[in-house]
Amino acid sequence: MKVLMIGDIFAKPGREIFKKNIEYLIKDNEIDFVVVNGENTTHGKSISKDHYDFYKDNYVDVITSGNHIFKNPEVLQYIDKTPDLLKPLNMYKSPGNGYVITEKNNKKICVLNLIGNTFMDPSNSVYETMDDFLSLKLKYDILLIDFHAETTAEKIAFALNYDGIITGFVGTHTHVPTADERLLPNGTAFITDLGMTGVISSVIGIEPADAIYKQKTGLVRRFQPATGKAQLNAVIIEIDEKTNKAISIKRISI
Ligand SMILES: [Fe+2]
Ligand SMILES: [Fe+2]
Repeated sequence: MKVLMIGDIFAKPGREIFKKNIEYLIKDNEIDFVVVNGENTTHGKSISKDHYDFYKDNYVDVITSGNHIFKNPEVLQYIDKTPDLLKPLNMYKSPGNGYVITEKNNKKICVLNLIGNTFMDPSNSVYETMDDFLSLKLKYDILLIDFHAETTAEKIAFALNYDGIITGFVGTHTHVPTADERLLPNGTAFITDLGMTGVISSVIGIEPADAIYKQKTGLVRRFQPATGKAQLNAVIIEIDEKTNKAISIKRISI
């Protein structure tokens, strides 16, 4: 079983490079299950219903998210009807699902979305939330986690704490890919951050002039998504059919 997990798809350039490559990525790598982080899909913030449908029409099984998920109010109108669009489970009492179990190729795959506690907006303790989740003793064969967080150490510490319990752990949110993909000692496939799927020559997806203006003056003007050449960043996690343990994790950048 092979799982493709794609980092934060940012605005139109991100959606376009995703659309251009998804079919070939699935066929070439014999992918069985696709997860994308969609928190930046619509103009860089959140995800409209049309763009949710766009992913579902293009082979995506589960859409994860993060701190931007509720920045488009349209989400509030439909997220309770789309169990495969996740918001971080520990994001207080917001609407929507924090995890979903999907059956594919005779495997029950659970995707769980969490948000970090360090340098992020306040949320419930990510460790307490994870322990509560595990105490539910849900029935699944494979557990994939999108851990949406700012700092590298928080993601590494968390993954090591649950090493062997999680099948595949990917970090998201920084929009910058890390080169540390590996199997942890007890078998969890791990990467600190997938990086984003969006314009390369940007400040994490935003038009550089807008971000530089804010840094220089402390004033904020409306951020526009950058335009130009985009990059798709993802990993492919291979999972043993018999043991349900990760065999490998491969980083891809297109
Ligand atoms: Fe993001
Ligand atoms: Fe984020």
